[in-house]
Amino acid sequence: MSTQGRVRRQTIPQIMAHKGADPLVCLTSYHAHTARLIDPYVDILLVGDSLGMVMYGMESTLPVTLDMMIAHGAAVVRGSERALVVVDMPFGSYEESPSVAFHNAARVIKETGCQAVKLEGGTRIAETIKYLVNRGIPVMGHIGLTPQNVNVMGGFKTQGKTREEWPELEADAHAVAEAGAFSIVLEGIVSELADRISGQVSVPTIGIGASENCDGQILVTEDMLGLSPSVPKFVKEFASLGAQIAGAAEAYASEVRARRFPAKENQYELANGKTVVSSSPKGKE
Ligand code: KIV
Repeated sequence: MSTQGRVRRQTIPQIMAHKGADPLVCLTSYHAHTARLIDPYVDILLVGDSLGMVMYGMESTLPVTLDMMIAHGAAVVRGSERALVVVDMPFGSYEESPSVAFHNAARVIKETGCQAVKLEGGTRIAETIKYLVNRGIPVMGHIGLTPQNVNVMGGFKTQGKTREEWPELEADAHAVAEAGAFSIVLEGIVSELADRISGQVSVPTIGIGASENCDGQILVTEDMLGLSPSVPKFVKEFASLGAQIAGAAEAYASEVRARRFPAKENQYELANGKTVVSSSPKGKE
């Protein structure tokens, strides 16, 4: 099969080459249309299980299922062509054993067409990461504030606030890197510790609520677009789409109520100039 004329996606070696070089640009994506819009500007699109909270209004990521991740992962792959697409393994799909993890991760790869999966956890999950990588499944690690662990942590809490916590978090980073992960998300980690970890491991670190010295950065796209009702301190809103959407809905409602919409130019006409009500969907005529 010819690949001529096709834009090639970022590869795992290209992503790994960002270690200590120019920063990796990563964003989350859950559907085809935002994937299409942001794909030209990012190296990695992460189909995060944060979609449970952001899109489905869940209280945590725990209820997210493998089927949800597969449906959204496939949509993001269809909507993009350049970025490496990584899909989160949801809670309960990989912790039981390396072979259960392989079975589920292989489904994600086959049914979405994504290039890699992400697993939360450090030392406790290293054996599973090694098992997947040795069987052809690239893995992105995720340590620090791991939202699937919310009940154990007692909330979404920044990690490494006391130096006593540091050795365990550093050991997590080493275990994940040595198990063969091609990159590691450092979430909600004090910046001094994030800098130490980035300096110690040989694979790119990707920060979220971590440090500007990580090898890359990731944000939840809806947060940085200003679509979320409230955002944590580590988020910068690069747009105010929430206010724009509400404003557009308000303008639409007022025009519909005043019968100003649809105007004549939004309606179909008979050839003789008389207006006719049509059931044709937009773009079909
Ligand atoms: O689920 C998610 O969106 C994530 C990122 C915030 C790293 O894991």
